[in-house]
Amino acid sequence: MASKNVEAILVTGVSKGIGKAIAVQLAAEGMTVYGTYNRGETEAKQLKEDVGNVEIFQVDLSKRSSTLALIEKLRSVRLDAIINNAGIFKPESPDDYDSTIWDDTLEVNLTAPLLLSLKLKDTLKDGGTIVNIASTDGLTGSFNSIAYAAQSRSDEHH
Ligand SMILES: NC(=O)c1ccc[n+]([C@@H]2O[C@H](COP(=O)([O-])OP(=O)(O)OC[C@H]3O[C@@H](n4cnc5c(N)ncnc54)[C@H](OP(=O)(O)O)[C@@H]3O)[C@@H](O)[C@H]2O)c1
Repeated sequence: MASKNVEAILVTGVSKGIGKAIAVQLAAEGMTVYGTYNRGETEAKQLKEDVGNVEIFQVDLSKRSSTLALIEKLRSVRLDAIINNAGIFKPESPDDYDSTIWDDTLEVNLTAPLLLSLKLKDTLKDGGTIVNIASTDGLTGSFNSIAYAAQSRSDEHH
């Protein structure tokens, strides 16, 4: 992504992993990152301290009310891009299926990105971009992560 004219990016899940790497890179290119975390407050604060150019917001994307509260906080920000990165992966047993894994996975990995995209799209500047990070499990399927594969397949069609 060219950094010219790009200034403000929402990245979900910046406390670790891929989201943290994205935030570090974008901030290094001079962009302001609006980054979210859930449990990783210490890590998110450390990122803000180390990198600068990062505003952090706590949100639990498994809870609809928390996602909607984050959206309200971000409504006044003019964004150049939304990167829906935060996600969970929980292996399942097909023989003893725990449907809370299905519910949580779809809420965090599919519904929350959809709501963030729909409700913040009007805050995007002209030419703004929405990036949804999915998995190849959406293409191949998976016997012990059915919810994750289903969510990823759907993300690829967002
Ligand atoms: N790693 C891979 O091999 C791989 C492969 C394909 C696709 N992906 C996708 O890439 C994305 C990032 O993966 P990753 O490996 O970097 O994951 P990760 O290291 O486990 O980090 C996940 C991030 O999502 C946040 N998150 C998790 N549950 C949340 C919730 N309920 N509410 C708000 N935030 C939540 C975490 O926040 P806290 O830690 O602060 O709670 C963390 O910042 C995911 O969408 C994943 O499906 C990863």
